[in-house]
Amino acid sequence: MDQTAASANPAVTDRPAGKAPPCTMVIFGAAGDLTKRLLMPAIYNLVCDHALDDGFRILGLDIVKHDDDSFRKHLTEAIREQAAASQAEFTADEVHEKAWSWLMERCHYMPGDFGQSATFTDLQDKLDELAGKTGTANAVFYLAVAPRFFSLVIDQLGAAGLLKEGSSYFRRIVIEKPFGTDLASARALNARILSVARESQIFRIDHYLGKETVQNIMVLRFANGLFEPIWNRDHIAHVQITAAETVGVEQRGGFYDTTGALRDMVPNHIFQLLAMIAMEPPNSFEADAIRTEKAKVIEAIRNWSPEEAARNAVRGQYTAGTVRGKPYTDYRREPHVAGDSRTETYVAMKLLIDNWRWSGVPFYLRTGKAMAARRTEVAIQFNEAPGVLFRQTHNSVIPPNMLIFRIQPNEGVSMRFIAKKPGRAVVLKEVQMDFNYADYFESEPSTGYETLIFDCLTGDATLFQRADNIEAGWAEIGPLQQAWAEDLAPLEFYPAGSQGPAAADQLLARDGFQWVPVK
Ligand code: BG6
Repeated sequence: MDQTAASANPAVTDRPAGKAPPCTMVIFGAAGDLTKRLLMPAIYNLVCDHALDDGFRILGLDIVKHDDDSFRKHLTEAIREQAAASQAEFTADEVHEKAWSWLMERCHYMPGDFGQSATFTDLQDKLDELAGKTGTANAVFYLAVAPRFFSLVIDQLGAAGLLKEGSSYFRRIVIEKPFGTDLASARALNARILSVARESQIFRIDHYLGKETVQNIMVLRFANGLFEPIWNRDHIAHVQITAAETVGVEQRGGFYDTTGALRDMVPNHIFQLLAMIAMEPPNSFEADAIRTEKAKVIEAIRNWSPEEAARNAVRGQYTAGTVRGKPYTDYRREPHVAGDSRTETYVAMKLLIDNWRWSGVPFYLRTGKAMAARRTEVAIQFNEAPGVLFRQTHNSVIPPNMLIFRIQPNEGVSMRFIAKKPGRAVVLKEVQMDFNYADYFESEPSTGYETLIFDCLTGDATLFQRADNIEAGWAEIGPLQQAWAEDLAPLEFYPAGSQGPAAADQLLARDGFQWVPVK
């Protein structure tokens, strides 16, 4: 298929409402949590949207013993449970029988051990059999597996010749995060994948890029004449990016305690937000034009020494508290977490971007679990207006203007500015103008994975990370990883349900700023 034609960004081009080409999507880890919680609901939403071809097939592969029927039954029970649960990512009120049956007829399963080469010979046979029915050898291999299996599966796919593309069919790989645990491991993983596949075949997922509101940052910046002229150090005082969660580590203690907030959220999700906000306008909306600008801005982040990184960051861990009326225990008492764990569940950091546009403008990032509210947003604070006109009035301090991208929840954009309070005296008050997505657009049921899966099927890599994007992210947090490993900074504690450690407030107060409260 024509990759160039397909690579324009769907966020900004009129994507034809057409269908993805026929393809077999092989899901490694088909019996796992990601498949039932996110992939299947997203694929189902694509079916409802008539976005999939008749020749679409799913082939589940996992160590768990299932046949086609029991796999379909497992998926059907899972989607019904989610439709009934209010907290699930899948938000449909009911599962439409016709669409679900269409999908189930196209779901197949083969049990297999990822470590055995025989599994991959069987997989080849199965793909040939399905190609006989669908008329295409197109295949996407989706690695919905624990990271320790990434290299193993990719090596096996390569050795079995399953990644070889033909003139009339494609072979693609989708890899979930975490992609490595530091720069060295990410580089090693990239090298390994690139030894069996071309970069254009690899789709590294960062689910933040599937969020409409994240994609909208680019549209707001580049489709409006208002913002871009003031989007620089002459007008912007600082930028703060927040990804606050109310959840604790729940059942993921085993994974989380060896990962921590920094690695779990910063080089991937938070840096994606940062890149969208700070990158230069790309030459076009081609996938590579955008990914090049993103890599450039991440690479321009100042390289701190470990000591400097430690001074410009705060690590925190939650202790017992109450989040929205629900009692939380100490992080250290969560299941599968070490009793003396020093893993951070919160990180705040200051970065400087050493390029022409941003020189001297601090970027503050923070993310944490068990915080007062769930809120992901980017706040841009503009320079203060000179107060000369108002110095005779009661307004010695005029709050600066702020533009806030509300990524989730209550998706939208807010602008805070100053207005005169009605009355005889000149009294200035901060007011807020809100744009809410919900007021303008009907929201489609979405898990955030629909666009990503569709784009992978159509070969559009814009919303996926290229090898250098991933490596740039890890390179930037390397000194801080080292600083914390060497205990160059204290571990701060914060009660569950709070704003995070007090030290994070001081990080901004030092520069004369403050965080937008998480509420
Ligand atoms: C995941 C992290 O990648 O992103 C989780 O591993 C985190 O720890 C999640 O909770 C946050 O995603 P979202 O879409 O809820 O902001």
